[in-house]
Amino acid sequence: MKKIKIIFLSLVIGTGAIMLIEGCAATQAIADKSGAALWGENCIRCHNTPSPADFSDAQWETIGMHMRLRASLTKDETSKIVAFLQTGN
Ligand code: HEC
Repeated sequence: MKKIKIIFLSLVIGTGAIMLIEGCAATQAIADKSGAALWGENCIRCHNTPSPADFSDAQWETIGMHMRLRASLTKDETSKIVAFLQTGN
């Protein structure tokens, strides 16, 4: 009986540890993505990806705020995408 409890406990702890490590790895992978990659993956979900040359820098700031809400992006992701789009004009 005691042995079963120990096996069960170590399974629970082991799974928890793996989930913790995997969770951090996924967050880090997203944090490492460039603005161009985030733009390509996110903006295509609802409409064609607008080209950097389509709007002025000031317009991209506003569009960034607007699409941040639509696409549920983090502040960091949004500023990377906006910075990428602003280099194109
Ligand atoms: C969840 C869906 C969704 C995602 C994801 C999305 N958009 Fe949009 N986008 C819309 C909709 C809907 C409109 C039409 C205007 C409105 O009603 O918001 C729009 C309009 C636009 C426009 C027209 C100008 C404006 O602000 O209305 C631009 C430019 C644009 N999106 C850029 C982007 C970029 C860049 C991204 C990626 C960061 C993005 N969108 C991601 C839904 C989305």
